[in-house]
Formats: sequence, structure tokens, C-alpha cells
Amino acid sequence: MKFHITTFGCQMNVHDSQWLTAALESRGWEAAGEDDAQVYILNTCSVRDKPEQKVYSELGRVAAHLKRDENVFAAVGGCVAQQVGEGFFDRFPHVKLVFGSDGIAGAPNALERIARGRDDRVALLDFMPKFAEREQPEKVSALVPETRQAFVNIMQGCDNFCAYCIVPYTRGRQKSRHPEAILEECRMLAGNGVREITLLGQNVNSFGLDKGGAGVTFAGLLTSVAAIDGVDRLRFTTSHPKDIAPEVIAAFGELENLCPSLHLPMQAGSDKVLKAMRRRYDIERYLAIVDGLRSARPDISLTTDLIVGFPGETEEDFRQTLDMVERVGFESSFSFKYSDRPGVAAVNMEPKVDPEEAAERLLRLQTLQNNITRKCLKKMVGVQTDVLMEGLSRMQDGPLASWKGRDPAGRIVNVPMEFEAGLAGMLVPVKIMEAKKHSLNGERTGEPW
Ligand code: 5AD
Ligand code: SF4
Repeated sequence: MKFHITTFGCQMNVHDSQWLTAALESRGWEAAGEDDAQVYILNTCSVRDKPEQKVYSELGRVAAHLKRDENVFAAVGGCVAQQVGEGFFDRFPHVKLVFGSDGIAGAPNALERIARGRDDRVALLDFMPKFAEREQPEKVSALVPETRQAFVNIMQGCDNFCAYCIVPYTRGRQKSRHPEAILEECRMLAGNGVREITLLGQNVNSFGLDKGGAGVTFAGLLTSVAAIDGVDRLRFTTSHPKDIAPEVIAAFGELENLCPSLHLPMQAGSDKVLKAMRRRYDIERYLAIVDGLRSARPDISLTTDLIVGFPGETEEDFRQTLDMVERVGFESSFSFKYSDRPGVAAVNMEPKVDPEEAAERLLRLQTLQNNITRKCLKKMVGVQTDVLMEGLSRMQDGPLASWKGRDPAGRIVNVPMEFEAGLAGMLVPVKIMEAKKHSLNGERTGEPW
């Protein structure tokens, strides 16, 4: 069987798709382009209005392929699947499988049964009481990309119920994974050549605060993963400011391979709005965390998520967000206009912000962010660093190929070098020569290793 996966949304979805690819390849299935696939799998996101709309237009587009052959079918996974569930069967007759975030563990077998005609339609939508452990695929190449960067799930779901957020409904309650299973997977990946690991969860800082986790804290887990042979770079995402422990902040100064970057969603810069959002921290606490992080690791690069136009946000509240963005000096941020999501508390909050006003705020915020990003990148000129090469970039620099990689903080660095097969996944010593709008240019100063 030939399959094609399209992925929307967060890194968790990207990783889920990698795992599904590996599990299907281990069953002898083959990843294929859109035109050749017999099974279309859509891994979906419903966190905001826009990504959800993209899913429906993509399903409409895929329907054209499905008409080609009556044995061709589609499967929908991820957050929209969890939300709409069997509703997909009525609206899209070619959808034969829907699976949610816990149900994905059973998706490879279900796809096989459907492909063999043993099942017609399958819905895997139940939430499990514990972390739904998945089979370890025999063929791991989809989990171990050429760039030698890999993701590892450490938990599933979220208990926070922030007023705007659909995730607790689509991904269920928080369930930490057993630390031994996490470490075993990390060791397996490192043994297969992985040198950068990103630990994934909706709220990694509360790892172990539920019944899973076997008494190990997130800081303890970080220390154990960092000690695995071959792990040159360690990252984690996503963090919630209310749960970040002093030990995790300290780890940035203690664990050499823990990368100097942290994505710490702030969402808003006004205490009033943070309270309405049910974030359970205030600006003072957020700034104290930032101070702690910068004392532990002065070169740490901070990035964030921001929402503008949350119900009740006034011009003054919004200005406080602008102030905070400047004060913290985020290197970059993802910013979004608030959108109502089905079932979340903010749907009933008033007054809603006029959409044009929200669009204008978003533009002002993004203009400010671009200026700060530029300043942060300029400061990097002259710095000596190591770049983990990901591949060739589209830019071409005379006779030399332009390689693209990331510095330890995750900044994109372009480096002109001879074309050499096998440079992806190598660490190259580089001096930063120039700052562009969203990336850096550098020169190689030593041998790749
Ligand atoms: N409207 C706008 N942005 C949202 N996010 C989550 N829910 C909403 C919503 N209803 C943003 C938050 C979160 C990021 C993944 O998406 O900033 O951190
Ligand atoms: Fe989208 Fe959030 Fe679900 Fe990830 S967890 S797929 S970002 S809704």
C-alpha cells in the first residue's frame, strides 16, 4: 500500500505523523506522492480558526484524488478528528478512519484492516486513562531524519483550561509518560545517530504532576536525557510559565547540551487579560522567570506566543503587551488574533474586540517584533558558534552551495560551502558575518564534526 500524510499544526502533530510513517513502513507500506497514494492521511489542527479551515479545504482537494479509484480512501487524525469524530463519515464518504491523539496508537492496524477490506469504517476516539504507549517501529528511518534531529513525546493532553484554548478538549487530560519509556526511546534514537532531541508535550513543565511520571520531575527527566551519550543538543516545548520549576531554570546553567533557548508563551502583557485568560501568572511572575533564566544562562534566547483581541482587551491592555514585548526583548514571537473555538470559556466572554481593531493591533505588534528581532540578530554578528546543518537553502552564493542550519539557540544560519553529500546532520564551526531580517549569514571556520 502507498500512503501520503499531510500534517497541520504543532510539532506534536509533526512527530505523530513521523511515528505513523515509521509504523506503516514497518508493515511494508510505502510513503508516496499525492498522485500515487492509495491512502490519504490528514493529521489536523484545530487550535485556531484558520488552521481548522485549511483542513476542510484540503479534504475537499483530496476528494478529487479519491474519485480516481474506489479503493482509494482517506483517514483523518489529530485535533479536528477528535472534535468532529464520526461526523466526518457523513460529510466525506471516502473518509474511512478517524483517530484522535490517544487513538493514533491503533491507527496502523486499523488502516491495515480497512485496506484489506476487513473493516469498513473505524473511529478511534477514546481517551485513555494512562499515556497511550505506542509500538516501537522496526523501521525507524522516519523518526531519524537526515538532519539527526528527533522528537520524543513525554506527555499527552493538558489540564489547564486556558479560557481561549481547545486543546484540553481535543487532547484530553494530562498524562505523563513513564520516564523509563522516554529514556529508552531517547537511547534508541541516539544509538541510531540522532544528536538533537526535542522533548514534546502540551505543558512539559508539569510533567509528573499527574499520576504518570513515576515520581520523576521534569528537571530530573531533563538531567537524565542530557546525560545520554550522543545527545549534543537538547530542547523542550511547550512550557507554561506557571509551572516552570526553579530546578528547570537552573538547568539552563548546568546542563551543557541544554540549548540556550526557551519558548515561553506569555499570551498577553496585561494582568487583567491574563486573569481573564485563566493563565494563573501575572506580569511580575513572568518577569521574575525571565530574570532567573537570564542569570542562569545570559545568552538565552526567548520566544513567545501572543494573542491580540482577547474579549475585553482594551487599547491600554494591548499597549501593556507591546511594553512587555519590548521589556523582555523576545527574539521572535508567534502572534494571533483571538478566534472563538467551540466549547471554550472565552466564547461567552464580552465585549468581543472589533475584528478590524484586532487586525490593526496584530500589525502593530508584528511591526514592533520585527524591529526587536532585527536588533537581536544584529547582536550576533561576530559571534563564533556551531551550526547543525539541515540541508541546502534556496539561496545560492556564487560557485558555493548555500547550506542552512541552526545555531544552538535555533536561529537559522546560512553558510556558503562546497556541496558535499552528507553535510546534513553535521555540526559546523561558523562565524556569524551578517544579520538578515529573520536569519543570519556565516562563514565556516573549522571542520564539520
Ligand atoms: N485564538 C487565538 N489564538 C489561540 N491560540 C490558542 N488558542 C487560540 C485562540 N482561540 C494560540 C496561543 C497558543 C498557540 C499555540 O495558539 O497563543 O499558545
Ligand atoms: Fe493543533 Fe494544538 Fe492540536 Fe497541536 S495540539 S494539533 S497545535 S490544536
